[in-house]
Amino acid sequence: MKENENELLDLDEEGNIKDKTPEKNNKNKDNHFKIIVTIIIILIIICAIILIFKFYKTNHIELIISNDYDEMSKKAADIITELLKNNPNAILGLATGSTPIGTYNELINRYNKKEISFENVTTFNLDEYIGLEQLHPQSYYKYMYEHLFKHININLDNTHIPKGEGNPEENVKEYESLLKNNKINLQILGVGRNGHIGFNEPGTNFDIGVHDVILHNKTVKDNARFFENDINKVPKKAITMGIKNILDAETIILMANGTDKAEAIKNVMGNRVDVNIPVTALQMHKGKVYVIVDKKAASKL
Ligand code: GLP
Repeated sequence: MKENENELLDLDEEGNIKDKTPEKNNKNKDNHFKIIVTIIIILIIICAIILIFKFYKTNHIELIISNDYDEMSKKAADIITELLKNNPNAILGLATGSTPIGTYNELINRYNKKEISFENVTTFNLDEYIGLEQLHPQSYYKYMYEHLFKHININLDNTHIPKGEGNPEENVKEYESLLKNNKINLQILGVGRNGHIGFNEPGTNFDIGVHDVILHNKTVKDNARFFENDINKVPKKAITMGIKNILDAETIILMANGTDKAEAIKNVMGNRVDVNIPVTALQMHKGKVYVIVDKKAASKL
């Protein structure tokens, strides 16, 4: 009976209340351990979320830094070559300007070596000046013919460049509907010093498709080098694919060389999408973006 009483009252054999301090200490230790484990688990989850977010943000933009312009041009040509080998009916989005000339030369070399064929390739160019005759030496139509098309086995009927002559409204509609029916597999891009892509000048809404544009003074000045350095000779208007059309491409290659482009490259590799820096729209692309630059264009990264 005495034993039972002692148990009920939690007394020891001599009738003293049992000393529970060690038990309490153990419980406290257990609780501390649980709290620490919970904190560690929460920290691990937070780190995982940050890593997944960072991976998601940068995964689709792959930066490739080349030693110089030639290497940059070859790396872009490698990606295009691989696409044409896997898909001889590929649809390419093409750019003009001085940046892609090396890549076009490299593609011509590879075509001459019979490594690639353009027989069933279709192309869509980004833009064209409004008001220049198609065969004007500085029209983008002429540029494409001289720098690429006349050297390869492409069917000219499969090459498309927005029309800079005729009714601008009709030209816009026609090009937009062509793009709707043809998904671009790989879009090549250069970038203007003010961050423009195609002729999408700073401030252009990212949601619009093919449209006419009044060129910014900076772009007119930059492009004067193609018009005997006379800004009066540079057309002031152009027709261009919109950012929306560009982002519709499955894969994008952005190329840039020289310190003039370093700021634009810093912006595209950053985390801020800014309507005043059109090239930053590439961060919103759902597919793969290759940013292929020389060391100078990478100097602000
Ligand atoms: C023009 C073209 C752009 C091109 C840009 C940069 O404005 N419309 O498509 O990216 O020039 O040209 P460059 O490669 O000569 O620096």
